[in-house]
This record gives sequence, C-alpha cells and structure tokens, in this order.
Amino acid sequence: MSHPDRFLLAGVMGWPVMHSRSPVLHNYWFEHYGIAGRYLPLAIKPEGLAAALRALAPLGFAGTNLTIPHKEQALGIVDEVDATAKRMGAISCVVVRPDASLIGYNNDGYGFIHSILQEVPDWRADTGPVVVIGAGGGARAVVYSLAERGAREIRLFNRTLARAEALRKEFGGPIKALPWEDRHAALADAAMLVNTTSQGMVGYPPLDLSLDRLPTSALVTDIVYIPLETALLAEARKRGNRTVDGLGMLLHQARPAWKAWFDIDVDVTPELRRLVEATL
Ligand SMILES: NC(=O)c1ccc[n+]([C@@H]2O[C@H](COP(=O)([O-])OP(=O)(O)OC[C@H]3O[C@@H](n4cnc5c(N)ncnc54)[C@H](OP(=O)(O)O)[C@@H]3O)[C@@H](O)[C@H]2O)c1
Repeated sequence: MSHPDRFLLAGVMGWPVMHSRSPVLHNYWFEHYGIAGRYLPLAIKPEGLAAALRALAPLGFAGTNLTIPHKEQALGIVDEVDATAKRMGAISCVVVRPDASLIGYNNDGYGFIHSILQEVPDWRADTGPVVVIGAGGGARAVVYSLAERGAREIRLFNRTLARAEALRKEFGGPIKALPWEDRHAALADAAMLVNTTSQGMVGYPPLDLSLDRLPTSALVTDIVYIPLETALLAEARKRGNRTVDGLGMLLHQARPAWKAWFDIDVDVTPELRRLVEATL
C-alpha cells in the first residue's frame, strides 16, 4: 500500500453536513485497507467556502468532496475545472495538487454508470430508448453519463418542461425534452427507465408513473436511496423488471476520488453496502 508513513486526510464540505453518509463510506476504506487516515465532515458556510478550500493544502488534506450548497460555487474558486465538471456545471470532488493548486471533478455520472455495471455487468446504454424522469441536479449527471456511454435516444420528462428543455439545449445529442403527460406512453419500447426526481423518497409521495406499457426486459433504476427500494422499484421488481437502487451511485462516485486523492483503487464490497445501508 502506498504512503505507509503518512496520515491521509480528506473530507466533505457542506452546510449542513452531518447528515452525509460519506464519512461512514470513506472511513470504512481506511479501516478495511489498514491505512492510517481519516475522512471528516466539514461544516462550511457558503461565505467560507473559498477560505476553506484554500486551507486544504496547508492542513495536509488530499482533497474534499462537496455537497449542498457548494457544488456550483466551487467552480469559481478552484484553479482548474475538469471538462466533465465544467459540462455538468458542478464540482463534487476537489483534489489538492502537489503545488497546492486545486482541481475540481464531478464523479456523480461515473457513480451512476458503475452502480449499474456492478449489478448488470453486460448493461449497455445503446440498446434502446432510455426514459429519464426529472431534470434537476441528479438528472444532469444521469443524462450526461448516459449520453457519454452512447445512449442513442434519451426521452427526458420533467414536471416543469422548461427545465428539461434547458438540459436538452445544453447537452444536445440524443436528448429529447417531452411533455410530462406523455411519460406513461413513452415507456412502451423503452430499454431503461431512470427516476431522478425526489418522488418516492421518504416523506414524498411515490412517482406518478404507470409501468403498464413498460417491457419487462427494461432495466429500472432510481437514484433515490432513502428508502433503498422505492415504490417504483418495488412495482418494477414485482412485474419482472431488473432493478438497480440509488445507493450504488453514492458508493461508486467515491472510487475515483480515492484514486485521485491517494492513488489507491478501492472496491464497493457487500460489507460496505451493508454498513452504509444500516445508516439509512
Ligand atoms: N444516489 C445518489 O448518489 C444521488 C445523487 C443525487 C441525487 N440523489 C437523489 O435524487 C433525488 C433528486 O435530487 P436532486 O438533487 O436532483 O433534486 P433537485 O435538483 O431539487 O430536482 C428535483 C427533481 O424532482 C422533480 N420533482 C419535485 N417534485 C415533483 C413532483 N411533485 N412531481 C414530479 N416531479 C417532481 C423536480 O421537477 P421540477 O423541475 O418540475 O421541480 C426535479 O426534476 C433526491 O432524492 C436525491 O437524494 C441521489
């Protein structure tokens, strides 16, 4: 293992931050691989973000994750923004370089794609139309990464059509922004369905979507992970569709961060999944 004589440090900056599962996840890897280090929750107010990011290098941090409300503001603070983060308009991970300069990445799309590949290793984005519901922050990562993986048609539905249209204009390519009321019928020949809305999350009503016309061969995924099995996934599973829940996206986005911060390849193990599941 590299860096045997160093205490490795990273964290997550948010406001609030104590709800974040990231410390449980990253500290599992320090313990699992027997590496001396710690991943800390860092409660940083928006007005303190620039100073906090500049303090990473002198404090000996390898970098930090960013969560609400810092992902967009950080674009104007770091020294360089990776091309994916630039296109997504948000930074999820900051890396301190040897000269103390800061580079921002966005690993959310990587997390989404690799959570699917872990469950369905032969999955491909280009086997048929993909229906994506929602056009918020989570949808940006989903739509961007599906297009990058070669999806040929992405049917994007959002309650507020203008937001879906804005995403289509920005990303272009295979995205079609379609009226909300057409979402049920659009499932008829879909190869994949993704919920990126907050509907189905604990405290919210289930997603209002009839699966009647969805082929049972279609893969159904939800990026909501509290609860792990949303009403959408439960219904899909009952009618015979394969499903992937939202927890894998959270776990897998952390892997490229470890590679960039510590040059260590980490795995998403069943034990790690159970550990984080127990906190939900
Ligand atoms: N697994 C992961 O790693 C991961 C990553 C990111 C997000 N998430 C989860 O994804 C969910 C969405 O997060 P986000 O950051 O994308 O939120 P967001 O930016 O606030 O977007 C919310 C989305 O939900 C839609 N929506 C809200 N109320 C609705 C309703 N009553 N009917 C239909 N659509 C409705 C919104 O549509 P309008 O535009 O019409 O308001 C919008 O498309 C959350 O549960 C979050 O925890 C998970």
